[in-house]
Amino acid sequence: MGGYCLLILLIGACTLYSSYGVGKIKQTETATLTVDANAAGRAIPDKLFGIFFEEINHAGSGGLWAELVDNRGFEAGGHHTPSNIKPWSIVGDESNIVLSTDLSSCFERNKVALRMDVLCGNDGAKSCPSGGVGVYNPGFWGMNIEQGKSYKVVFYVRSTDSINIDVSLTSSNGGLVLATSNVIADAAKVANWTRMEVMLEAKSSDPNSRLQLTTTKKGVLWIDQVSAMPTDTYKGHGFRKDLFEKLVDLEPKFFRFPGGCFVEGEWLRNAFRWKETVGPWEDRPGHFGDVWMYWTDDGLGYYEFLQLSEDLGASPVWVINNGISHQESVETSMVTPFVQEMLDSIEFARGDNSSQWGSLRAAMGHPEPFELKYIAIGNEDCGKPYYQGNYLKFYDALRKAYPDIQVISNCDASSTPLSHPADLYDFHIYTSAADMFSKSNKFDKTRRNGPKAFVSEYAVTGKDAGTGSLLAALGEAAFLIGIEKNSDAVEMASYAPLFVNTHDRRWNPDAIVYDSSRVYGTPSYWMQQYFTKSSGATLLNSALQASSKAAVVASAISWKNTTDNKNYITIKIVNFGNNYVNLKLSIGAENSVQLVGSKKTVLTSTNVMDENSFQSPNKVIPSSSHFTLTGKDTNIMLQPISFTSFDVIQEQPSHLLMKEADSGLKSSI
Ligand code: AHR
Repeated sequence: MGGYCLLILLIGACTLYSSYGVGKIKQTETATLTVDANAAGRAIPDKLFGIFFEEINHAGSGGLWAELVDNRGFEAGGHHTPSNIKPWSIVGDESNIVLSTDLSSCFERNKVALRMDVLCGNDGAKSCPSGGVGVYNPGFWGMNIEQGKSYKVVFYVRSTDSINIDVSLTSSNGGLVLATSNVIADAAKVANWTRMEVMLEAKSSDPNSRLQLTTTKKGVLWIDQVSAMPTDTYKGHGFRKDLFEKLVDLEPKFFRFPGGCFVEGEWLRNAFRWKETVGPWEDRPGHFGDVWMYWTDDGLGYYEFLQLSEDLGASPVWVINNGISHQESVETSMVTPFVQEMLDSIEFARGDNSSQWGSLRAAMGHPEPFELKYIAIGNEDCGKPYYQGNYLKFYDALRKAYPDIQVISNCDASSTPLSHPADLYDFHIYTSAADMFSKSNKFDKTRRNGPKAFVSEYAVTGKDAGTGSLLAALGEAAFLIGIEKNSDAVEMASYAPLFVNTHDRRWNPDAIVYDSSRVYGTPSYWMQQYFTKSSGATLLNSALQASSKAAVVASAISWKNTTDNKNYITIKIVNFGNNYVNLKLSIGAENSVQLVGSKKTVLTSTNVMDENSFQSPNKVIPSSSHFTLTGKDTNIMLQPISFTSFDVIQEQPSHLLMKEADSGLKSSI
């Protein structure tokens, strides 16, 4: 795009953005988009668009990870007892049961166990209330229990006497039992810690249920590591299906995890440490994420992240802690143990089954290595003390041991070259909608001969975004069009954050919104679906000219649809302004190719600040209609504040196909 043209577009963006409002008289702007489908174009990187998962907003714990019990090992209150066992609570009252914690667990890394002193009983002493006494867990703001579905409940128990425990899924006040099973064991069996497992099938549904362990038998019991898992998770891998499917629809080509600030921690002692998140779930200590301020049992650990990448067909991008948190930095001369921790993590992912860490991966169910090819050294740490020195230690170790791994630096090289070697550099952008729109040219002038950008976090934030507005999505769409056009300088890009449980909004906006049973995508989520075919496609040359008040950005790609085996041209246009734009679309293609319109898809709404919600999940979603090309030049009216794509099929005319078929026939004779 020429400088003059760009200036016009930016002036247009500012003028029109400030004129949003209900009742304004809409004018019509004009624009011409010329697409050259004859020239070879340029290959777009095959992993250009992916996703970034961070444990923020209860994205995993109480989100994608389908575990229903929160604080399943009673560790969330800390390792000193007595402790707070929140959100566990009492069934009954202190006159018939006393709940406390001690350090008697059989699990070495998480010693806290629940002790239940049951004072009532059916042996002639004070009898227990009907339904018994015990403990319940409400999960993450209510468990979603669905009629006909099965739930596997596992817990560990020890007692000085025989036990008789009801394991039940109930309504939020315990009044209605949705599913129940009785666990009985004699004293000899439970004298030592014993694993119990029951399968519960729900007789009715309630999105706000709880799990109860109750008894009417007097005595002392210890309980630890309680899990309730739906059996219908994706492939039995533990991922909540409705949320997993939302990810599948984005067709992500890479999967960056597990943060974000979550990787760093406010303090290193609370950072994500992968070794504490692998192995049997009962052995994992869990940890308090002190940036987003909640506990996670780490059921969704390093292994599960790698499995998730594989299930999505996305390349894992593992962000490692490089000895730097928000508040502290380990000196370069002492960072070697952190380097070793990273090397061990790669051995876990890729090492053979006889290696120390590869054998653990195999024991967990994945004998084949995971295809780990990208490592990011830290998150947003470039300016922090010791980063440059620490980075080099990690880089050198990686180059030596794993030369095929792509190393991602935290330092921005979009304007000035890096002072250290790297394969990619991380770039984050959170800004207003108008600024994001203007950033469609951000990488136009970036040098092409250094490491490429990994735009691993982008989003419109602040008042333009609300909790996920159309306006935000339009600014981001323009930015992504710019990335597509500059994909010789940008290798990968992902939106942030991905998930939010509405009960714990730590960050606004987010792409996928849910509670225990419902889910919807924000306009930014739907905007990303326009780019699912871009990775690995061909960028076509295109030229856009627009009247002075038009605020439009466009790109054109060609790609092969493996479903119908046809070649497509997809044209995407953001109209960021409040006016209609009369667009003349000219596609230059070889005479031997026939162009056929197929589909027009529009993302818009009556008000630019419109959002989706649980009540109206489809208020701002793309709508598709048939699109007809009217010749070489097609005139199209673009709606105000809209994001539109046109799919055009490139076909060989039937008489040419006949000829080809004939010639094929002849040559085969
Ligand atoms: O995406 C939310 C946060 O924004 C990430 O944790 C961090 O990398 C950035 O500052």
